Amino acid sequence: MPEIALGQSPAAIDQAVALLDAGQLIGLPTETVYGLAADADNADAVARIFAAKGRPADHPLIVHLGADDLLNHYAREIPEAAWTLAEAFWPGPLTMILKKAPGVSDVVTGGQDTVGIRMPGHPVALALLRTFAEAKRLAGKAGGGLAAPSANRFGRISPTAAQHVADELGDAVPLILDGGDCQVGIESTIVDLSRGAPEILRPGAISADQLSLVLGEPVSTRAKQSSPDAPRVSGSLASHYAPLTPLVVADVATIAQAAQDNRVAVIAREDAGLSEQSNVVILANHPAAYAHDFYRVLRELDAQGYEKIVVQALPDTVAWLAVQDRLGRAAHRELSDNG
Ligand code: TXA
Ligand code: MG
Repeated sequence: MPEIALGQSPAAIDQAVALLDAGQLIGLPTETVYGLAADADNADAVARIFAAKGRPADHPLIVHLGADDLLNHYAREIPEAAWTLAEAFWPGPLTMILKKAPGVSDVVTGGQDTVGIRMPGHPVALALLRTFAEAKRLAGKAGGGLAAPSANRFGRISPTAAQHVADELGDAVPLILDGGDCQVGIESTIVDLSRGAPEILRPGAISADQLSLVLGEPVSTRAKQSSPDAPRVSGSLASHYAPLTPLVVADVATIAQAAQDNRVAVIAREDAGLSEQSNVVILANHPAAYAHDFYRVLRELDAQGYEKIVVQALPDTVAWLAVQDRLGRAAHRELSDNG
């Protein structure tokens, strides 16, 4: 099994930098979910990510940076809006899609002319990124970014704790930096700035309204069924993030009834009036708090051998959009089983 090391320890950071430098992979805590990181400037190392995850090669990765002056190494024709958003939201759960710089490998971008970039807001991720970039600089090499998708096997739930990464990937990752439970719990907001008007490709903790307020222009959200020529967002495959146990979404009356069947697990919110019992988990009735726990609870229930997971339907408001999106994808397997 991989080594799980205390992420705050300078020795662990040095060990991670040495492994990255040797073309190996690292499990990395971020404020959203754990990532599986490789040197973004080493195409062979990045290719190992796809092998470890079982991810198709045309699904692009996000490049993580510890300083925004590295943006110019990975992106070109950077619009003013990108600097404005970086200033307002980085480090934080926002990924920007920009035109890629010529030196960025096709392995990272899945052969596209654009690249996803973000600066994660987790102290361990930032410490690693900054130490790694400094090691590059001292060696007289350009770069220092880390390509990192979520550290789950393809199509599975993103990990929000170090142990989840070990459970998902085993020996494919030699070292996992433990940074505790992820604060946000779902993946970053992705905004496309590569084609003019900003457009959200994946909703997350940072909302369209927040981006719009800072940019002083409207920010739209792309509908889930994206057109075939749109940039490929692997999260946009409808079945992404699915647990193996069939999952359905239901109203309060239905979940109350389901809770009486011990073969069925129920995820309810505080307002449902159910009490916590072995097959019933109550989550907060607030989107940020719900997002914090959602993947962990799904993962735990998925491992317990229930016949079905029944989740209380979420409020149909923009505040719940990002969580709604992840719940919809988790439910998709059941929907497609039903034809
Ligand atoms: O919060 C996050 O974003 C986490 C942490 C680890 O940073 N990362 C993450 O990576 O969710 P991943 O690979 O699981 O999802 C990244 C998404 C994918 O859906 C990918 O298709 C999309 O970003 N993406 C990356 N580059 C893109 C590009 N050039 N154009 C469109 N979408 C892109
Ligand atoms: Mg992912």
